[in-house]
Amino acid sequence: MIITIDGPAGSGKSTAARKLAARLEIPYLDTGAMYRALAYAALQRGADMRQEADLLEVARTATLDVDCGPTHTRVRVDGHDVSEALRDPRVSEVTAFVARVQGIRDLLVRKQREIAADLGSLVTEGRDQGSVVFPDADVHFVLDASLERRAERRMHEMIADGHEVTFAWVSENLQTRDGIDSRQWLPLLAAGRAIIIDTTDLKLSEVVDRLEGEVRSRCRTAAHSG
Ligand code: C5P
Repeated sequence: MIITIDGPAGSGKSTAARKLAARLEIPYLDTGAMYRALAYAALQRGADMRQEADLLEVARTATLDVDCGPTHTRVRVDGHDVSEALRDPRVSEVTAFVARVQGIRDLLVRKQREIAADLGSLVTEGRDQGSVVFPDADVHFVLDASLERRAERRMHEMIADGHEVTFAWVSENLQTRDGIDSRQWLPLLAAGRAIIIDTTDLKLSEVVDRLEGEVRSRCRTAAHSG
């Protein structure tokens, strides 16, 4: 079973996806971590973020290992576990440069499909998972929330991780990313193929209950019709 969860930063999709995977006892893939890992590698190698060819060279030559479990996605670059370093604000700021290079997207999409084929079942979370990577997934979700609530959540996460950030900085960073990111899941919404959940006023446990309820009801329907 493949379940896709897409939506903007701060919509709560990472934590909800992880909790859903744990409840269903299937692996969880954080595809943002894969884009961040290549951004991290590009920073380490001093690549020019405006030179697509340089970024593509980093993506082609870096060894990216992704380990998915029901409660984690751990990422290694060239043998080093960088999972924690990926949350650094410097990495967040440059990931968009990496994510807009089509050659890099093609490479990571291929890798995501290989991971799914290997594992069989997956809760996979990102921006393009339902529209591009797994259009035939069993269930597609799009999570969203107001900008204010998303900025508030992201700011608390970053402060908890030890980063000094202000609400204004986080809010501006989210708005910049929204413009680029939202194009990726719009086709899925336009086709009416996704279940949309607005998490603005929901507690995390309520979001996970909704996700799990929808998945289990789909499974029952599939079992009856099959
Ligand atoms: O989800 P997260 O905030 O870790 O993603 C970091 C960035 O990676 C996003 O802002 C987006 O630019 C990019 N990304 C993407 N496609 C995905 C996942 C992430 O373009 N499937």
